[in-house]
Amino acid sequence: MTDGQGFAARYGPWAVIAGASEGIGAALADELASCGIDLVLIARNGPLLEEVAARARDTHGVQARAVVQDLTDPDVVVKIAAATDGLEVGLLIYNAGASDRTSTFLDNEFDYSLIQVALDCVGPMALTHHFAPAMTERVRGGIVIVASLACLAGSATLAVYSAVKAFQHTFAEGLWAELRPHGVDVCCTPRGMTYTPALARMGVAYDPRLRCARRTWRPRSSKTSATGLVSSSARRIAQWHRRCGPSTGACWSR
Ligand SMILES: NC(=O)c1ccc[n+]([C@@H]2O[C@H](COP(=O)([O-])OP(=O)(O)OC[C@H]3O[C@@H](n4cnc5c(N)ncnc54)[C@H](OP(=O)(O)O)[C@@H]3O)[C@@H](O)[C@H]2O)c1
Repeated sequence: MTDGQGFAARYGPWAVIAGASEGIGAALADELASCGIDLVLIARNGPLLEEVAARARDTHGVQARAVVQDLTDPDVVVKIAAATDGLEVGLLIYNAGASDRTSTFLDNEFDYSLIQVALDCVGPMALTHHFAPAMTERVRGGIVIVASLACLAGSATLAVYSAVKAFQHTFAEGLWAELRPHGVDVCCTPRGMTYTPALARMGVAYDPRLRCARRTWRPRSSKTSATGLVSSSARRIAQWHRRCGPSTGACWSR
């Protein structure tokens, strides 16, 4: 059995990636497609999302649906439920959630902070609450929440970001304990700096020493587990950078 087949056997045929049009989410989509997993990809930018979906279909022969959806929409669960009706979703990856500002809590409009809470706290809870019951019934499944090392401590200009990432970390840890007896893996990935379009839009300069292939932790078993998947995606981003360089838009969606 190949790594990819092992992955599909462990989690099931379909994965949902929330936040998949670029950066880490697009890398995860490529990684899962290479394991033969069919994909439901969610983000707001339709054309970029469709590129990711088309690449998965053309390169790996998997099914891939692009669902254009704002994850902070109060009706998000209803819409995602409709888009995934009848699919056996065995893996949920909640990736969206980078901060796009470096300003203090008081300098931001309060609504901006509420959107961060909606995206990073309400979104993962809502989608987990929707998808996890079927996983526990099947006694197999996986949930990955992409957090940040910022979850470990509060810091200036990232007060809300570090707080919502701490929520994700603690939430995932509790879920891990609750769902493990039901055959569902849960992992939180507190990532270090990864040069993505979100980071570029914040004005962070590309530094090849921070190409970010570095793992934030060591997976127990290569691509057959959710933790292994996330590490592989970090390597994939590093390969894109090497191939395309940091300044071309193309490298983000390849
Ligand atoms: N980059 C880093 O250095 C770094 C470091 C530590 C942790 N992380 C974490 O890694 C994750 C991914 O970060 P990233 O740098 O790739 O940037 P990101 O801004 O979180 O973007 C990731 C994806 O999420 C989608 N997205 C963002 N807001 C959305 C919304 N409201 N509704 C639907 N989709 C949305 C984006 O596409 P659309 O714009 O098309 O919607 C994109 O496809 C985040 O959770 C972040 O906190 C990143």
